[in-house]
Amino acid sequence: MSDTEQGDEQVTAFEYIGGQPTIDAIVDDFYRNMDSLPEARDIRAMHAADLAPINLVLKKYLAEWLGGPKNYSTERGHPMLRARHLPFPIGIADRDAWLLCMNRALDAHVAADPVRENIREAITKLADWMRNKKGEPPPGSG
Ligand code: HEM
Repeated sequence: MSDTEQGDEQVTAFEYIGGQPTIDAIVDDFYRNMDSLPEARDIRAMHAADLAPINLVLKKYLAEWLGGPKNYSTERGHPMLRARHLPFPIGIADRDAWLLCMNRALDAHVAADPVRENIREAITKLADWMRNKKGEPPPGSG
């Protein structure tokens, strides 16, 4: 994500939306949604029974991705996010289920604002990039 213009100052999206407390609330909600929405049953099943460890990892990843502290890459190295998802067959329906959980969390914790829409657009592209299921059109094809 690129920085956000606010007057003369450059503010990161991370700071603009409220820093780590906002990221934490988004990620907690995201995994609650994954745990409870019927549309997310298949992607929930890809994850470990205990979501607590991945919850902490996603909090660090998203903070860094939005321009905040680089704790994810300090601890886990280069994200290589697509490679890390290759063990899971991720198709169009899985992408859409993931985005359903994330969009609800974003709407709940980030005020309606162009910055929120920029984040939504960027994360939608990122989720599409995770697709790797054989027999479906490749990522970026709509
Ligand atoms: C498109 C649908 C997606 C599916 C089905 C999916 C599924 C998964 C699964 C099953 C794991 C392993 C979890 C575990 O260890 O229990 C994982 C890890 C992870 N996912 Fe996703 N994911 C998706 C998209 C995304 C997106 C868009 C992002 C970033 C915004 C993301 C960020 C991560 C991160 C940071 C990890 C941990 C990577 C690490 O080991 O360091 N995922 N994902």
